[in-house]
Amino acid sequence: MPKINVIATSTFGLEAVVKRELQDLGFTKLTVADGKIEFEATFEDIPRLNINLRAADRVLVKVGEFPAADFGQLFDRTKELAWEQWIPRDAKITVIGKCVRSILASVRSSQSIAHKAVIERLKSKYQIEWLPETGPEFTIQVAILKDVAQLTLDTSGPGLHKRAYRMQHGEVPLRENLAAALVLLSFWKKDRVLIDPMCGSGTILIEAAMIARRIAPGLKREFASEKWPAIDKGFWDEARKAARAAILPEGELKIFGYDIDPERIKDSQANAKKAGVGQDIIFEQKDIKDLWINQPHGIVICNPPYGIKLGSLKELTPIYVTMHHMFKSKPGWSLYILTGDDRFPDFFKRARPDKVRKLFNGTIEVNYYQYYGEKAEKVETAEVVS
Ligand SMILES: C[S@@+](CC[C@H](N)C(=O)[O-])C[C@H]1O[C@@H](n2cnc3c(N)ncnc32)[C@H](O)[C@@H]1O
Repeated sequence: MPKINVIATSTFGLEAVVKRELQDLGFTKLTVADGKIEFEATFEDIPRLNINLRAADRVLVKVGEFPAADFGQLFDRTKELAWEQWIPRDAKITVIGKCVRSILASVRSSQSIAHKAVIERLKSKYQIEWLPETGPEFTIQVAILKDVAQLTLDTSGPGLHKRAYRMQHGEVPLRENLAAALVLLSFWKKDRVLIDPMCGSGTILIEAAMIARRIAPGLKREFASEKWPAIDKGFWDEARKAARAAILPEGELKIFGYDIDPERIKDSQANAKKAGVGQDIIFEQKDIKDLWINQPHGIVICNPPYGIKLGSLKELTPIYVTMHHMFKSKPGWSLYILTGDDRFPDFFKRARPDKVRKLFNGTIEVNYYQYYGEKAEKVETAEVVS
């Protein structure tokens, strides 16, 4: 099977998580750069990658890469690439672009030159005067970084965070792929208690349950490249069949979600049901100050409201103080807190964070504070919280 160059893109800070996922899917020789991981794959891998990657943003095919110091070079080298291998004569083509630290600084002009070059190539290969643009969609990205142009095709379409289970209510829900990454970055295992005391629309817990039950994140959605003639439809059927076969039955997960807002709890329940994990998580309306934890070991992963978007800093302080009192004498609990409010460690005084990872929640820079608890000697089985 012919080899192709593929790039999995990710949010800044999550490259290592995506790299680990790719290794788990069997890919080797991964080249990691800011926001992307490049590797060799086959056409058959495109469905598998799109359906299974949890933390990545998109899966791109790299069609070419070359120096581009002027528009003539950009046009000629783009036209030399074998676009007809991927793009049929009736394709609807969109070109997007970015130019960073390059002589070619105009994104608009670079896009339009690349677009023209691709169209010229296809017209000459298909021996037609114009392209009807009635068929499948193709998004090409021309990314020029330090005078090197990289031309890619987006196989995903809507970003991979769109899993098709979430209703878009709720305040500042986390992107699903970031939520999955938070779980993958934690030491949570499916036999351990997991709580999100401010769960909003339930994203973190739903992603955790999907990870535990090996439910592939892309099983319920479509991808742009499903309509591409270059990728055999059978590859998609096979990848979906394998993903369905991998799902573990509902089990003994100990996952609990709380939120002060009853509407968020309703959303969480509906989202979990739609994601196929409705029976795996217990959601309950509760103010964090009324939450009573009587188990010695467990894991909290959450993103509290933070001043930039929700509430004022003054309103947040009682939440932090509550968390401090709740966990100060519970060394067996690990806490993973995503927040843009860098005052959090000043209030949560059990210890300094064991690790702080800088991440992005959309465009907002946030920290992922990680406080590791002492190891559990045995698995908890009793009722956990009340
Ligand atoms: C940033 S949002 C969490 C978003 C969530 N991770 C998601 O993906 O949808 C913070 C949540 O904390 C909840 N909240 C605020 N104060 C609370 C409190 N005192 N007790 C429990 N939940 C609270 C809000 O209702 C909101 O849903």
